[in-house]
Amino acid sequence: MTVPFSAYAAEIYLRGLGDEVPRFPTDPAQLEAAARAVLTDGPYGYVAGGAGQGTTMRANRAAFDRHAFVPRMLRDTTSRDWSTTVLGTAMPAPLLTAPVGVMSILHPDGELAVARAAASVGVPMVLSTASSYATEEVAEASGDGPRWFQLYWPTEDAVTVSLLHRARAAGYSTLVVTLDTWTLGWRPMDLDGAYLPFLRGVGTAIPFSDPAFRAGLATAPEDDLMAAVGRWVPMFTGTALRWDRLDLLREHWDGPIVLKGVQHVDDALQALESGMDGIIVSNHGGRQVDRAIGALDALPGIVGAVDGRAPVLFDSGVRTGSDAAVALALGADAVLLGRPMAYGLALGGEDGVRHVLRSVLAELDLTLALAGFADLASLRAAPDALTRVMP
Ligand code: FNR
Ligand code: LAC
Repeated sequence: MTVPFSAYAAEIYLRGLGDEVPRFPTDPAQLEAAARAVLTDGPYGYVAGGAGQGTTMRANRAAFDRHAFVPRMLRDTTSRDWSTTVLGTAMPAPLLTAPVGVMSILHPDGELAVARAAASVGVPMVLSTASSYATEEVAEASGDGPRWFQLYWPTEDAVTVSLLHRARAAGYSTLVVTLDTWTLGWRPMDLDGAYLPFLRGVGTAIPFSDPAFRAGLATAPEDDLMAAVGRWVPMFTGTALRWDRLDLLREHWDGPIVLKGVQHVDDALQALESGMDGIIVSNHGGRQVDRAIGALDALPGIVGAVDGRAPVLFDSGVRTGSDAAVALALGADAVLLGRPMAYGLALGGEDGVRHVLRSVLAELDLTLALAGFADLASLRAAPDALTRVMP
């Protein structure tokens, strides 16, 4: 079945005949600038900021600039199909929304808006543990939409197990375990504004609604917010994670498990050895280790080492459909979209997120079609799709 994502362009131009222009920018830099204008310093800095001097955020982008398509001509790519299945989840294109926490600082509908927008275009959503709405509330907003759950791993096993059981019961099919943020990195924009939403009980809806978490409190979070914050913050940061602890997750999650934040080839191989089902190559959008390797630079080595034994997903630095296309050409099985989605949310709630998703999908479709590809199989069969360039 052909899914004409590029039809979004036609839709926009046709509306122009009625003197209508899109409510939100399509250019990612303009999208960020527009979001900057509607957000106060704290929330904007939380999304836009990175670790240290921002070298890793820049490295993420610079890595894209070193790759270029060499488009092929006179191949019939008028009928296209980007659909794929990753770990049992069917998707119309290899794109998911990244787990982004605390979305109510951007728009009151927060994760509910992302769930509705993603479901409306069929894009799987990855819900963060740091959500502003409970696991079940987001599931309801997502309806029939595909959804995965991202775990920030609590130090108390009873709470971990409870979070996992709730997510499974609410229809989240794959577990994403984020490894790179067992404590928050050094983030000057947040530090200079002394801005950390969790300390105000924002982005804590999942633990605060959790029976196992609440069982350890003398007073409910609704009556004593600071006591609940004081229990949760040390419980989800500072976790002593080790490879052998993954057994606990396997025991309590009867679906696929994916490790997010893998940057070293040996960690990717260790993930496979530990029986994990997939990995996400990511440096958390440059929010954790300043001067870490650009995520796209880590991708080809890991794809080569994993060698098809498990899906390798990718995020960090994807701003457009053509960026996503480059990551796919380098062997990613799917790509997660982070900050642009957050800016769309800030600008227009569900409509804003839908606009961003449809824009990225349309450009992904057009980029690959005009480069000579009609489906993922033909892209994967073309090692010469990309060349390296000096920016
Ligand atoms: C994140 N990210 C993230 N990841 C995760 O596993 N759980 C989380 O709660 C969050 N929260 C979060 C908040 C904000 C504001 C941002 C920007 C990012 C990381 C996210 O999943 C993804 O790895 C990055 O967003 C990718 O980088 P880019 O492409 O957005 O720059
Ligand atoms: C962050 C955490 C919540 O990057 O993932 O802010």
